[in-house]
Formats: sequence, C-alpha cells, structure tokens
Amino acid sequence: MATPGPARRLLVSGNWKMYHDHLAAIRTVSDLGLRLGTDLGGIEISVHPPFTDLRSVQTVVEDRGIPVLLGAQHCHSEDKGAFTGEVSPPMLARLGVSHVLVGHSERRQLFGQTDDQVAATLRAVQRHGMTPIVCVGETEAERAEEATEDRLTAQVTAAFRKLAPERLAALVVAYEPIWAIGTGLTATAEDAQAACAHIRAELAGLAGAEAAEAVRIQYGGSVKPENTAELLSQPDVDGVLVGGASLDAASFAAIVEAAASMGRRR
Ligand code: PGA
Repeated sequence: MATPGPARRLLVSGNWKMYHDHLAAIRTVSDLGLRLGTDLGGIEISVHPPFTDLRSVQTVVEDRGIPVLLGAQHCHSEDKGAFTGEVSPPMLARLGVSHVLVGHSERRQLFGQTDDQVAATLRAVQRHGMTPIVCVGETEAERAEEATEDRLTAQVTAAFRKLAPERLAALVVAYEPIWAIGTGLTATAEDAQAACAHIRAELAGLAGAEAAEAVRIQYGGSVKPENTAELLSQPDVDGVLVGGASLDAASFAAIVEAAASMGRRR
C-alpha cells in the first residue's frame, strides 16, 4: 500500500462541463470564495469552467484572492493551426490556466477523442507549463465483464508510454468509472481504492516506483459532500473530480471542506 508523500497534496477539481455562462460563472466563483474557509488543510482546488468563462473567472479569482486554480476542460494538442472550433494549450496558458482535463470520457465517447490524441494532448499541456488531469475509466459493460483492470491498463499504457519519469510524476490521473458519472452511483471507497492502486502499479511499471508514488490520482463519478471524506480516506485516492456537485457553490464548498479535513490529517 502506498504511503502518501508530501508531494501528494489532495486536489479537488470542479468540472463544470457545458453549464454556467460567464455571468453565472462569476456569481458561482464569487460565492465559492465567500464560502471557503481559511484553513484548507494544504489541499489544492481547481475549477474548470467552459472556455467562454475562463477570462471572467480568472479576473474574479485574482481580484479577490480566491484560493482556486484555474482549469480548462479540454484543448487541442497543436499550438496553432486550421482547427476550427478548437483552443490550443498556449492560449490557455496565456489566460493563467494551470490544470487541463485531458481525455474526459465525454470527450472520448461523444467527440471521438482517441488514445493517441490523449497522449499528444497531455504532452502539449505539459510543454506549456500546465498540469494535465488525464481521465481514465471503464464502461458499465467492461465492469460487468470484470474487465476494469484491463481497460485501465490499456488506457494508462496508451497515454503514458515512454513519458519521462519526471513528467509522469508531475501529472494527475482521474479515475472515473463511466457508469458512475452523472448517475448518482458512486464506486465504493474500496473499489475506488482498488482501481487507483491498480493505476499506480501500472504507472510504476511504465516509469518506476518513485514517479508513480508522486502521481496524484483522483476519483470522479457522483462525488458529493457526503461521500468525499470516505473516498479520500483511501491511501491511493489523492483527490476528487466533481461534476454536478461542483456547479453549486454551497455543495462544492462542502466537498472542499470535507477534503480539507482529510488534508489536515495527512
Ligand atoms: P459527476 O461528473 O460528478 O456529475 O458524476 C464527474 C465528471 O464527469 O467529471
């Protein structure tokens, strides 16, 4: 079992998906700022609004000193080019984005993002000084066939093969079982731990134990204030990626507080 090192600060991330226009985003992040306590237990918090909100959220966060990192939900792997509708890593970096979701299951399933694109994008995000949060997870059918570990191994290998250990150590992986996303069904803390431990073992096989021990692995899929502390009590679960419950400042602040209380104990 892994012992969390000092580098494994808990990371709580809110993925707003295609919700909240920039005015709603300003209200939500302002409200969040008022609700966050002063002792956050050393944890990190990121919010990932739609592209059109980034500048507004960045301005509010900076102006009010809200302890939240700016995140994006997706980007292209190229710096520029004829890619209508896409946004590049340097564009995000210029806006002060620090964390970018890469390979969320909705991008993979609904927009055809491939393993190769995920691998190229996470590298591009790192080249521009940002932290990728690389999402992996099995479908309901794969779970029913007891193919979860095979699926995770395949996704982890495709994404991180030949990545330098120091690069691997600096990124974040989000384990998000697809059957748990937006469904109200959460993996049990034991299942989340087993999957995250499997991911870490695969990472160790690719880049060595030291790098794998430094990687933060989040759990995502119907995270709520009530289940956060239990999920974070698991040794290989280093944060949560929150969709629906991050849209409301009160529920996201309650998740942050649950994580902060676990952070104080780490
Ligand atoms: P959920 O979404 O918390 O609404 O299940 C999680 C995600 O898709 O990142």
